Amino acid sequence: MRITGLGHAGLRLDTAAGSVLVDPWTTPAHLGAWTPFPDNADLDWTSLADVDLLFVSSVAPDHLDLELLERHVRTDTPVLLPDLPLPELRDRLAGIGFTRFVETRSGEVTDVGGLRVVVPTLTRPTDGPSGTAMLWLSDGGATVLVQGDAQPRDLALVRALGPVDVHLLQVVPAGWSPMAYELPEAARRAIADDLRAHAFLTARRYVSELGAAHVVPTGGPPAFREEALAHLNRIGTDSGSTHVHPAEFRDWMADRGYDHVRLLPPGATLDLRDPGVPTGTAPDPAAELAEQRRRRPAWTPLPAGDVDLPAELRDWLEPLLARAPGVAAGIGAAVRLTAADAERDDVDLLLDFAGRVVRGYDGEKVRYELTVDRAVLEHLVAVRETDWVHSLFLSGRLSIRRIGRENELVALFLGNLDPARLDRLEAWVTHRAAGGEDVTVDGWTFQRLCPHQQADLTAVGSVADGVLTCGVHGWEWRLSDGACLTVRGMDIRSRPATPPLD
Ligand code: FES
Repeated sequence: MRITGLGHAGLRLDTAAGSVLVDPWTTPAHLGAWTPFPDNADLDWTSLADVDLLFVSSVAPDHLDLELLERHVRTDTPVLLPDLPLPELRDRLAGIGFTRFVETRSGEVTDVGGLRVVVPTLTRPTDGPSGTAMLWLSDGGATVLVQGDAQPRDLALVRALGPVDVHLLQVVPAGWSPMAYELPEAARRAIADDLRAHAFLTARRYVSELGAAHVVPTGGPPAFREEALAHLNRIGTDSGSTHVHPAEFRDWMADRGYDHVRLLPPGATLDLRDPGVPTGTAPDPAAELAEQRRRRPAWTPLPAGDVDLPAELRDWLEPLLARAPGVAAGIGAAVRLTAADAERDDVDLLLDFAGRVVRGYDGEKVRYELTVDRAVLEHLVAVRETDWVHSLFLSGRLSIRRIGRENELVALFLGNLDPARLDRLEAWVTHRAAGGEDVTVDGWTFQRLCPHQQADLTAVGSVADGVLTCGVHGWEWRLSDGACLTVRGMDIRSRPATPPLD
């Protein structure tokens, strides 16, 4: 088997039973802010995209590049379709002419012309836009897991399928925190350091669990080529950005005795018949960004003109707020949304989740404030962008001020401004409120399920000094009262197992 890196999460797998194209992406994404780093625009896409199977892991625009697919992939190419809860992926591919879909069921083996494939899916609203999928495949000679962006609780399902030769995974999940927050620079760096450190430990846990002969970091970093967004690139190690280059993880792993992490930049191949010694260097970021600025124009919002933002947002968002009472109650407060404009007037609005209305901001104290360039917000409204997370938030074209802990539901609501997606979010919020049965560990009784992604806290949790830590993403709770110390609105049921003596 031969694996070719196509940039970011993109891969071409040439197996003994046919070729597979995975997540090819080159068109600027997330309001045009992201491009692959290093740039992959010069690859010979016509021949690389001439394959027997197409696999796309999610509808995130840095994985589903409709423009590239339309231009380079034959529409009669069979699509290996993950079993996701909403039909968005199929609908979007069908919308550009794809007709042949190989339906898979999460965790079950499908035989495609002698290639054995398994497509496990993660389907919670926190698992990316309408879910995300992994790809395990074996051609009888070699076995590969493309874990990609998926962050499952563990890899037990994959391990049960047998030894894996190559494990490809994203190391640090794409995010906007702390980059989008208005923070003192030292605080931003400290938070970014913590997030990266935790992500590296999580990635190492996955790597150790699977024990593959070769490990390949994929899925980042993006390049932010516009000068105004340049601070989002991690240049040097003294940086408040979480967008790391895979070489940093490779070196971190090598320091800990793992010498099988290799880089697959665009066009590089790993041939399992002759894998060679892991090599690869990070490109010079300054030169790469300068070249991308020269070759790729900056993004500009639609010339939407004067959009009546208060009226449009009321008409759009109020029916959605009414539709999702559990989500609105979980936020339970107002979020200020300022459309800033140096030439025209600012438009200052309040998304009032308690009252479930959109209204003008009149000076009241709020815990959350989002500031967006007015032309950018007009663009989002004009195109009815239903996922502000995979557009506005990840683009870095906003700034956030917050008092107190994060409430994850704010971004989840704004990432699901569509009735089908929002119904799914509402069902998830309602379901997780239950938290499973109570369990007792180290003198504390608490709910079994982590409120984040329902991990079994008896398996992945640890208790120290009255604080429970979930080992999947590191969230913490004070067990004396269940308060979540990491994000707001994620408290758990907990109490001492034995009532304290009077
Ligand atoms: S599953 Fe994410 S912190 Fe527990």
